Amino acid sequence: MGQNGDYILQMRDIDMFFPGVKALKHAQFNLKRGEIHSLMGENGAGKSTLVKVLTGVYHKTNGTVIFDGNQIEPESPLQSQQIGISTVYQEVNLCANLTVAENIYIGREPRGKWGQIDWATMNANAKKLLKEELGLDLDVDRVLNFYPVAIQQMIAIARAIDTKCKILILDEPTSSLSDRETERLFAIMRKLKAQGIAIIFISHFLEQIYTICDRITVLRDGEYVGEYDIPQLERIQLISKMMGKEVNENQIESNVDKSIPKDENIVETEHVVVDGKVKDLTMNIKKGEVVGFAGLLGSGRTEIAEMIFGITPPNSGEIKVDGVSVKIKSPMDQMMNRIAFCPEDRKVAGIIGDLSVRENVILAMQAKAGMFKHMPMSQQRALADKYIELLRIKVSDREQLIKNLSGGNQQKVIIARWLATKPNLLILDEPTRGIDVGTKSEIEALAVRLAKEEGMSVVFISGEMGEMVRTCSRVMIIRDHEKITELNGDEISTAHIMQAIAGDYHGSN
Ligand SMILES: Nc1ncnc2c1ncn2[C@@H]1O[C@H](COP(=O)(O)OP(=O)(O)OP(=O)(O)O)[C@@H](O)[C@H]1O
Ligand SMILES: [Mg+2]
Repeated sequence: MGQNGDYILQMRDIDMFFPGVKALKHAQFNLKRGEIHSLMGENGAGKSTLVKVLTGVYHKTNGTVIFDGNQIEPESPLQSQQIGISTVYQEVNLCANLTVAENIYIGREPRGKWGQIDWATMNANAKKLLKEELGLDLDVDRVLNFYPVAIQQMIAIARAIDTKCKILILDEPTSSLSDRETERLFAIMRKLKAQGIAIIFISHFLEQIYTICDRITVLRDGEYVGEYDIPQLERIQLISKMMGKEVNENQIESNVDKSIPKDENIVETEHVVVDGKVKDLTMNIKKGEVVGFAGLLGSGRTEIAEMIFGITPPNSGEIKVDGVSVKIKSPMDQMMNRIAFCPEDRKVAGIIGDLSVRENVILAMQAKAGMFKHMPMSQQRALADKYIELLRIKVSDREQLIKNLSGGNQQKVIIARWLATKPNLLILDEPTRGIDVGTKSEIEALAVRLAKEEGMSVVFISGEMGEMVRTCSRVMIIRDHEKITELNGDEISTAHIMQAIAGDYHGSN
């Protein structure tokens, strides 16, 4: 095989312009056969756009794409799939109300003699495919929605495998997966790689990139920075290349404010029970502290946050805000009590795609003020600009529709929305998922700064232990919907948190 024969894909000089935005500028991408290749870059760097140019979702302004030796002009996702390029997005691109089998064979259903769909064969094939390729035993006759997102993603991958793809694209597939599910996905990726399939893997989890990938291409502001073999690129160098500036190790170190917070409680709960969601919970959140809720996915961290915010009021027990016992009926009550909750899934969290960044930022404030008290436009603009700057939200201007922002930048707008309400307590549920490493450490630092300088209390929910260690002065360990123990100050370390979750460490109190 000649030199170019080693490559299944070469994208050269790719330009992609949206109105007012140059998303890609002479971007390059070279993918070898049978490699797992990561596309890295900050939020808005152009990763998803490059992938969408490749799959025909967008039509590039300029440049050439050579796939398997031939120049191609992908017209549509369907066409690119037919030639062997399959994509699995974070937002599963399947049909929720069709069955598992239908989702796998949609558009290429096995047919009987008279052209009618051969359901029996289709179901049997689907079952066999899932079992043999992915080790999954599913009821393929169930609607897709019956299964959790992690499984839905596997189904999307099964479909990709079955269409005999040569390139499989995974754009942030792991951001909502548990560690075990991620492991399973990696096992499948290794198997596909062994079959010679090239995989493009996009993720903001550095740990995962270094575990599973062979090479990395870095994009910055839509431009190609370089491509590197993983063993030759230290993490810190990678971050520098993504950000375009030197980073030193200390900058990603702990931000924790070690000074002991005041002994005033902003929220207290006593023996609070929410049926099926929160078990007998007694705890407090102090003024001006960053406190973490650590636990595995599904441990009940989010349910506790939802209880505090009034989404699921307690069945028994007492909640106090600022020392006063409160009866909460809805989130609006807690918003009035100056509590804000930034939920984990930005789709559910309700970005309203057809509203501008400015409108999305002021939404929660507006709801709080009452829909009829209109905020002066000059104030709205000033607010939006303030948060665009503070959180480094990448926009062409504040009136840009939020649906046209990159995934990570949408996430930042949601955080801005809640910050704008100037809460006394801000609950952040997985705030840095899907956010690039540079901004991530900035959001972590921001949480600590808000606590220290403005006396805001912050609840930080994260599955990433390192993040807790860097931000929290106290960590509550949640397991089976129950608070097991708390870790304080210097006892907070990744090892201790993991041991505590496993039940092998009980903290000093
Ligand atoms: N449909 C669109 N219309 C206008 N601008 C767009 C559109 N899609 C993307 N953009 C812009 O193109 C740039 C690159 O976005 P892209 O989604 O490719 O980033 P990304 O690297 O995938 O980021 P993230 O890590 O946040 O997912 C961003 O500035 C974004 O606002
Ligand atoms: Mg993206």
